[in-house]
Amino acid sequence: MAQEVTIHDKTFVPYITTEEIAERIADMAAQINADYAGRNPLLIAILNGSFIFAADLFRGLTIDAGISFVKLASYLGTSSTGKVVTAIGMDANLTDRHIIIVEDIVDTGKTLHEFLPEIYGRNPASVSIATFLTKPSALKYEDVKAKYTAFEIENKFVVGYGLDYDGYGRNLPCLYILKG
Ligand code: IMP
Ligand code: MG
Repeated sequence: MAQEVTIHDKTFVPYITTEEIAERIADMAAQINADYAGRNPLLIAILNGSFIFAADLFRGLTIDAGISFVKLASYLGTSSTGKVVTAIGMDANLTDRHIIIVEDIVDTGKTLHEFLPEIYGRNPASVSIATFLTKPSALKYEDVKAKYTAFEIENKFVVGYGLDYDGYGRNLPCLYILKG
């Protein structure tokens, strides 16, 4: 079993193993293969947090599918604006495409609540959300509903598998949760 890790001032303990993660993502990819066969979906992965999940999910797809990336941030510089800004925009043409938004975690839902209108404004054929994690008890924006979720977790801070605590921890191969 993996050991606890300390990042900055906080200690995290192992929470979900790499094997469990791989299994759930294989299931999700199989579901998407079935649901989107013949529809050539376009995955739009939200950077930075989703890059590892997106890579694993995308490699599980056996149907024709594309992938593109956007970078969203809820702050500029060091001052929090509370507004989600697009730091790297979308280069793909979404017209009549079946879009699957790929997120690391839907926490309050604010990020996707603000981003979804930008997607709908580009005339896609359909839009769904695939997220590695949800924290159901933290959700504030009820319009943000993930069609595909690998794990529903408790409302505590997690790191690893792409998710960071203040810039660190993204490279941990499994998921860790705040100790205590
Ligand atoms: P939301 O906009 O509140 O849904 O949260 C969106 C972003 O907050 C996620 O994409 C993550 O980047 C970050 N976030 C939320 N909870 C966690 C966590 O437990 N660990 C690491 N990042 C998190
Ligand atoms: Mg994120």
